[in-house]
Amino acid sequence: MKKKNLIIFGTRPEAIKMAPLVRQFLSNEKFKTKVCVTGQHREMLEQVLTFFHIVPDYNLSLMKPNQNLYNLTSEVISGLKPILDEFSPDFVFVHGDTTTTMAASIAGFYSGAKVCHVEAGLRTNNMLSPFPEEMNRQVTGRVATYHFAPTLKSQDNLLLENIIKENILVTGNTVIDALLESSNRVQNLKNEDVEALNKTIDFKKRIILVTGHRRENHGQGFINICTALKEIALQNPDVEIVYPVHLNPNVLKPVNELLKNIKNIHLVKPLSYPSFVWLMNKSYLIITDSGGVQEEAPSLGKPVLVMRDTTERPEAVDAGTVILVGTETQKIISETQELLNNSERYATMSSLHNPYGDGKACERIITFISNL
Ligand code: UD1
Ligand code: UDP
Repeated sequence: MKKKNLIIFGTRPEAIKMAPLVRQFLSNEKFKTKVCVTGQHREMLEQVLTFFHIVPDYNLSLMKPNQNLYNLTSEVISGLKPILDEFSPDFVFVHGDTTTTMAASIAGFYSGAKVCHVEAGLRTNNMLSPFPEEMNRQVTGRVATYHFAPTLKSQDNLLLENIIKENILVTGNTVIDALLESSNRVQNLKNEDVEALNKTIDFKKRIILVTGHRRENHGQGFINICTALKEIALQNPDVEIVYPVHLNPNVLKPVNELLKNIKNIHLVKPLSYPSFVWLMNKSYLIITDSGGVQEEAPSLGKPVLVMRDTTERPEAVDAGTVILVGTETQKIISETQELLNNSERYATMSSLHNPYGDGKACERIITFISNL
């Protein structure tokens, strides 16, 4: 009898990083694979499903404007029960560290399935940073049976938590699988996003690409970030700042209030994944608090300033392409000015690195599960 997989995800980054695994499992005849999206995100998730041609078998459609963690967690767990009862999977796959990840891993555990955690073992060991993601991945790590660690460092973190080595596989990060799978379609990309960007942005100037959304940066953190961006824009009229603003109202509101009407700051809607990769390629420098962007940028040779105090992705910091700058206004400004003005420093940081794998992470995961 075919083994049954249920692959569950809910947000944009999980979808991007699970898409190659979904496609490869669906074309593998040894397994019966179904996809369930919680709909923790809506538009930002839909664009990824469309790009990768994924049609979910189940959609809990949970997103509510300005949702809270309590409702989301309980609705994911209770929403999954009938699906788990009906499909009765052998394996439940979850990814990363979102509320969907943590709640789906608990639901999968209750159902008796073996929980398989993709992108396992990332740790800051500070429960409050990132919040609530560090808790989410630690809980998922306890609940999961199989752990697909992207790097040796993430495997080491799991071994320190007494996870048995036979249940861990170092795979590389599936973000690289997604990036390589998309690269042909991203070169010479022509779509609405690109057309709109080409109309408003002067690509002869150096582009600073910005993203931000972390909960621990809501409030004062975003005020500091926006103050820094405004100052950078005013000091450098020869630079264009492009900021696809996350749809979380706690981000949208301060960003729109503080950064509107500045000539060389372009606030745009979240871009589709290929458009965003296209824009990363066109950028001189990236300023972000995103996890996924920290992993993608090094393999595109783009320096990244990370607006966080801690990172669970030390590999790119060690490789020299990522610098942690926190959310203090002056530090963001001074590190940005340094990269704009010091060409030697820029050249060192923009040399190509890829600490996150060879694009075969999904293949390794499927071989591992096939051999169980
Ligand atoms: C979530 C994850 C975070 C992940 C991030 C990726 C949790 C607690 N947070 O944060 O780990 O890094 O996604 O982007 O799991 N919204 C929309 N449309 C969308 C998506 C979001 O309108 O397509 C708005 C809604 O008002 C929603 C709010 O954003 O209520 C917050 O969404 P939520 O998933 O709770 O938090 P994120 O900040 O997106
Ligand atoms: N991304 C995207 N459109 C955008 C901004 C980002 O498709 O406008 C992609 C990006 O390429 C990366 C992922 O979204 O793969 C990162 O998502 P996010 O920063 O929201 O979450 P995190 O990785 O921090 O959990």
